[in-house]
Amino acid sequence: MVATTQTTGEGWSSRSAFILAAVGAAVGLGNIWRFPTLAGESGGGAFVIVYIACVFLLGLPLVLSEIFIGRVGQTDAVGSIRRVAAQSHASPGWSIFGAIGAVAAFLILSFYSVVAGWVLYYAGIFGGDFVQAITAGEPFRGALAGENQEQIQQRLSDMFASPGLLLTMHLFFMGLTLFIVARGVHSGIEKAATYLMPAFFVLLVGLVLYGAIEGDMGDAIAFLFTPDWSKLTPEVMNSALGQALFSLSLGVAGLITYGSYIKEGSGLGSTSAMIAVADTCVALLAGLMIFPIVFAVGLDPAAGPTLVFQTLPFAFQAMPGGALFGFLFFVLILVAAVTSSISLLEVPTAYGIGERGWSRPKSTLIFGGGAFVIGIFCLLGYNLWADVRPLGFWSLFAETDILDTIDGFTGKVMLPLVALLTAVFIGWKADRNLLRATTGLSPWAFGLWRFLIAWLCPIAVTIILVTGLFPSILT
Ligand code: PFF
Repeated sequence: MVATTQTTGEGWSSRSAFILAAVGAAVGLGNIWRFPTLAGESGGGAFVIVYIACVFLLGLPLVLSEIFIGRVGQTDAVGSIRRVAAQSHASPGWSIFGAIGAVAAFLILSFYSVVAGWVLYYAGIFGGDFVQAITAGEPFRGALAGENQEQIQQRLSDMFASPGLLLTMHLFFMGLTLFIVARGVHSGIEKAATYLMPAFFVLLVGLVLYGAIEGDMGDAIAFLFTPDWSKLTPEVMNSALGQALFSLSLGVAGLITYGSYIKEGSGLGSTSAMIAVADTCVALLAGLMIFPIVFAVGLDPAAGPTLVFQTLPFAFQAMPGGALFGFLFFVLILVAAVTSSISLLEVPTAYGIGERGWSRPKSTLIFGGGAFVIGIFCLLGYNLWADVRPLGFWSLFAETDILDTIDGFTGKVMLPLVALLTAVFIGWKADRNLLRATTGLSPWAFGLWRFLIAWLCPIAVTIILVTGLFPSILT
């Protein structure tokens, strides 16, 4: 069995290339759109503190576990788990969680590309407005030429009502993702990360400074870091845990796949810590970028998923330089989304190469094309198929449209399930000597990791899974 697994033979050119690509995978819509949305809805500080605890106590041990599996396995997620299982005298059946993860990555990609398409459209709107502002001789005016809140809301509704527009944006974004992944690990994924991630950080710092100068940074800091423990309900804890998994790209075998391209060296512990720290800093900086602007214009931080598409455009409309900074903001999200979507496509692509023996272009096309088609269903759910409820028979998804059903099912069922199986596999099945030798952790760090992965992760993740599926338990 093990010997038949092909290795893709590709690899990162250096440790820093791997870190950049992995941070690129982690930093995405989850940090800039989902984190501020959830923090805003959940009352700020208390959510943020629980989120940070989840990242470091549960997320970080899982990041290290996934990278370990890839590093040892040196092939796609399914083959890598099978190899670790063989070296640990465990059943090859454990590779099932690699397969579930690859399916989850494929499904997430389908709607991720649709949402990234909205971002693309907004970058276009703001870009066009910025060009108009320059030609009108007022490069520093607010965006969207003084539109009121209803007009800005109308833009979002108009976009959702147009399947053709949504499809064009989705096609463009998926095409870009496919193009990069088809070029391979070194010339595609690594190169994209090497150019895009530095650009991302420059934009992020620039926009945070803009928020600090023009916005209300004091209120934003108080909102994000002063905990009001009365807001800490079980639902808030549950969503903080789910967000930690999503943001670190856990539960989709993404880091197993990226880890398999590490050719030499250890230091996996410090590498994992860097990924978790960078991802968390970006989420917090995204909060420190968005909320000063929202508060400066006196808007509601708890607007929900439209925070970025309605609240923020309205705020940019009123701020000096709003046309330029609004444009840069949407470019920033787009850059973050691309480096994540390529990691999502790489998981099934590597599976096609490693397990099916397909060529990279063929595998990319099959999985990218498949995700594109499912994405079309998602975008039709905003207009022609607005009444379709794919899992309507299940009370949890009774009212949920196509896109939100795929988001909810992957986030509430598949990701926690894969995370749970990863924790049990590493905590209870994997060979200790192999773990110790491959990770290169010091004895105390190794002991801590083993405790977190064998005990805390399985218990906490089981709680997310069960309370996510049966919310009535909490009431
Ligand atoms: N971590 C990404 C984000 O925060 O947007 C989402 C994601 C990307 C999840 C890649 C999973 C993945 F494999």
